[in-house]
Amino acid sequence: MLLEEALGLLDPRPGEVAVDCTAGSGGHSAALARAIGPDGRLISIDLDPQSLASTAQHMQGWAGQFVSIRDSFVRVAQHLVQRQLRADVVLADLGFSSGQMHEAGRGFSFRTDGPLDMRYDPDGPVTAADLLRSCTEEELADLIRRYGEEPLAPKIARKLVQTRKDQPIQTTAQLVQVVQEAYGRRARKSRLHPATRTFMALRIAVNDELAALEALMDQVIDGAAKVGEGGWLNSGARVAVISFHSLEDRIVKRAFVRLAEGGLGTRLTKRPITAGADEVAANPRARSAKLRVATVGGPKPMMKVAPTGS
Ligand SMILES: C[S@@+](CC[C@H](N)C(=O)[O-])C[C@H]1O[C@@H](n2cnc3c(N)ncnc32)[C@H](O)[C@@H]1O
Repeated sequence: MLLEEALGLLDPRPGEVAVDCTAGSGGHSAALARAIGPDGRLISIDLDPQSLASTAQHMQGWAGQFVSIRDSFVRVAQHLVQRQLRADVVLADLGFSSGQMHEAGRGFSFRTDGPLDMRYDPDGPVTAADLLRSCTEEELADLIRRYGEEPLAPKIARKLVQTRKDQPIQTTAQLVQVVQEAYGRRARKSRLHPATRTFMALRIAVNDELAALEALMDQVIDGAAKVGEGGWLNSGARVAVISFHSLEDRIVKRAFVRLAEGGLGTRLTKRPITAGADEVAANPRARSAKLRVATVGGPKPMMKVAPTGS
């Protein structure tokens, strides 16, 4: 399991400060809490108040200090510095949680009908329906091609614009229908559900996910440069990122290369670790998961890591 691989490499120890940048349903936060024990401190961040509520439930009965922060991880450094804390362990498990996926009212899933929302932060400025209403055909084609890597992006964008002339596209079922019409007979041959890539593209755009990840990685590098000088990372801190998109993985890889080349840390995974066949069978989304881990400053880690992925 990637969770176990991540925890093995993060190696959270009793009494340490751990930051879960993406609390989600709280599974990883709970595992970090167990490892750092009653003398540890856990900071769990999420844009989604429901995720934080679920994480808080996992923390009931845990004797360590638990801090729950509703915000984007783009401000993780600020939150730690404000509290005069320095992290030993940092985890970011990107994208949406299974809880968010299964709640039709959030609009993340093409399998259930619901409003086309897709915001992690329910108070965020733009929904997927807003984008489908306001973007030009060219903008939609570009967004679906770039973030969704969807070969039929221009066709889907054209169909979206034609459809919205008659009625606004406001539900997941409407969007699925439009994509299926654009696919036509190709839908039957498609290995993925035809709407998979379009939904992913819209979600990434709604939440500005690539910019947020860039900002997080910049903070890791900045924190590594400021170890011992009022930064938010301790010397020897371990940072793990689990991503689900090639564009995300590229951002993480480049940041960790910069860290290593700048003499600010060490890459523990030269190649990303991917999920095993059993995990993919149990959770198809794990198919695209990639884990990368680096240490910040400090001595080289004792542990040797053999990448299992490609
Ligand atoms: C894959 S889930 C995390 C699952 C979690 N590791 C668990 O054990 O359940 C990703 C979570 O990150 C949150 N998220 C996405 N972008 C975020 C951001 N920029 N800042 C904070 N949280 C974010 C989502 O709301 C979601 O709850």
